[in-house]
Amino acid sequence: MAESTSNVLIGVIGGSGLYHLDNLTFIKHVNPETPWGFPSSPIAISSLPSGTQIAFLARHGQGHTINPSAVPTRANIAALKSLGVRAILAFSAVGSLREEIAPGDFVLPSQIIDRTKGVRPASFFEGTSVVAHAGFGDPFSNKFVQWLEKRVQGVLETQGNGAKLHTGRCIVCMEGPQFSTRAESKMYRAWGGDIINMSVLPEAKLAREAELGYALIATATDYDSWREDESAVTAADVFKTLQTNATLSRTVAATILEELHEAAEEGHILTEEVGSMKFAIMPRS
Ligand code: ADE
Repeated sequence: MAESTSNVLIGVIGGSGLYHLDNLTFIKHVNPETPWGFPSSPIAISSLPSGTQIAFLARHGQGHTINPSAVPTRANIAALKSLGVRAILAFSAVGSLREEIAPGDFVLPSQIIDRTKGVRPASFFEGTSVVAHAGFGDPFSNKFVQWLEKRVQGVLETQGNGAKLHTGRCIVCMEGPQFSTRAESKMYRAWGGDIINMSVLPEAKLAREAELGYALIATATDYDSWREDESAVTAADVFKTLQTNATLSRTVAATILEELHEAAEEGHILTEEVGSMKFAIMPRS
């Protein structure tokens, strides 16, 4: 299934509005077929100014043609892994469930509430005779997220036009494509949710099963539907900040990718995931 085995350690997954990165020299597109089919779109292999190669995948397809419930996530993760990727930096537009997280702000979540369970294929082991229970108590790679924190903060301080960074937050992943009702939005707040999207799962679960480092940079576009005196979120609200958020996301990526590759190469941010599945497989009696 591997189409190329060059030294591509970092994979970037772009969400709504983020269909390419900046400051890269495009090398080629690859489209590896995996046992779970083809990825959402051909993967762009590009080089950073140092010559280091990275992989970029548009989660919803290049023309945003795939809705969140239909994203071929197993193929996406398997395809990135087949290229040699060891850490995935994912971006996603999110709704805010908290007053202090304003549209335009960035969030590095540390927890997830799953509202997609049972709907999307969420394991590479489904349909096999292997029973595997991957540890998912810390759904993001803590070291990777900590590593990102001060770098993303640095970019927002210098080039963020007032965008703030929020850390240690909980993201609710809901089944779309419709947005939440007002009652659901309030319920998620009561549950401890801080932001909401339709895409972080099963991506984070499958990255864990593939023993890949995984972190999400979430960019807030709207206040969802919990604010009493405001209209509930619409796609038009999301689109309002999508372009500004995507431009700033590209600046963040352009600033940190070189150093991220070095950290991945040295193993600093990957020690948690590598070998973790060794303890996840149930022994046969
Ligand atoms: N993505 C962006 N805004 C969202 C919202 N309010 N709910 C779910 N996904 C979103």
